[in-house]
Amino acid sequence: MASKLLVTGASGKLGQLVLDALLARGVNAADIVATTRDPARLATYAAQGIEVRKADFDDAEATRKAFEGSDRVALISTDALDDKGTRQKQHLAAVAAAKAAGVKHIVYTSLPDAEHSKVIFAPDHLNTETAIKGSGMSYTLLRNTWYQENMFMNLPQVLKSGQWYSSAGNGGIAHVARADCAEAIAAALASGTTDNATYTLTGPELRTTDEIAALASEITGRPIQVVHLSDDQLAGGMKAAGVPDFLIPTLVSFDTATREGHLGALTSDVETLTGRKPRTLRAFLVESKDALLA
Ligand SMILES: NC(=O)c1ccc[n+]([C@@H]2O[C@H](COP(=O)([O-])OP(=O)(O)OC[C@H]3O[C@@H](n4cnc5c(N)ncnc54)[C@H](OP(=O)(O)O)[C@@H]3O)[C@@H](O)[C@H]2O)c1
Repeated sequence: MASKLLVTGASGKLGQLVLDALLARGVNAADIVATTRDPARLATYAAQGIEVRKADFDDAEATRKAFEGSDRVALISTDALDDKGTRQKQHLAAVAAAKAAGVKHIVYTSLPDAEHSKVIFAPDHLNTETAIKGSGMSYTLLRNTWYQENMFMNLPQVLKSGQWYSSAGNGGIAHVARADCAEAIAAALASGTTDNATYTLTGPELRTTDEIAALASEITGRPIQVVHLSDDQLAGGMKAAGVPDFLIPTLVSFDTATREGHLGALTSDVETLTGRKPRTLRAFLVESKDALLA
């Protein structure tokens, strides 16, 4: 009998891409379970034969029930980035629920260099990895570098103003396509492996902020000046620009971590898992040019 493969947070952007990637790999829809807080959002997948169940990690018992009967679970990290430890509690509840439901293998979406990273929420990922390792389930840990799509958060404004404020210095990032991460998750989930492994998913080249700015400028025809600041100056600028106070330490920590090399991995792990090369940043910028300039 084929393994039952379960994807959590399946209505999110990454989650839906994982469902697409499983189907594209030829996994039978009847062998896929998708969990979400809002099953109505997955009606089109239910219509294709995927079993959709409700699971909110804030409800540990309902999550355990939703996991019952599944052999392998892709645990997609949640987006609960408050300062009350919510995400940590959710992830630990999900790991415990998987174990209690008899899941054999868990695939988890983590963060590069989770042990040392200055990204403010790195401990959530490290503690989740530790819980998974201690659970007795076999595991694949996929440490996802920043998605190329994250550039929609700041590049449109940078292209309008012509200035990119940064405290990332000369730190590089090999931004990766969200869809490449999804394919890697699907590959790990469907592989049947029970080997324990940790991969860091990256795009195919490492670029500093200056290099990304030059590439974006070349592709869009808009000039970009990178204004290099200290972390404190960056935080002050964000406050003056009206960024909500609670978000500022998180956003600054991204640049600190970049500067200190915690997001600077460059691997061929996407290709190892999926069998094909990941999308380049150039391809992302060319494909997204109109949307970035809109
Ligand atoms: N590497 C990166 O650059 C990067 C960037 C952004 C985020 N991330 C991380 O990667 C995850 C997926 O990214 P995305 O782009 O798909 O984000 P997204 O579309 O915002 O999705 C948020 C995800 O969190 C899940 N979630 C939230 N609260 C939950 C709860 N109480 N119980 C169970 N699941 C819950 C959602 O599931 P349902 O809505 O289906 O319940 C959904 O899968 C994010 O949640 C975040 O942890 C990584």
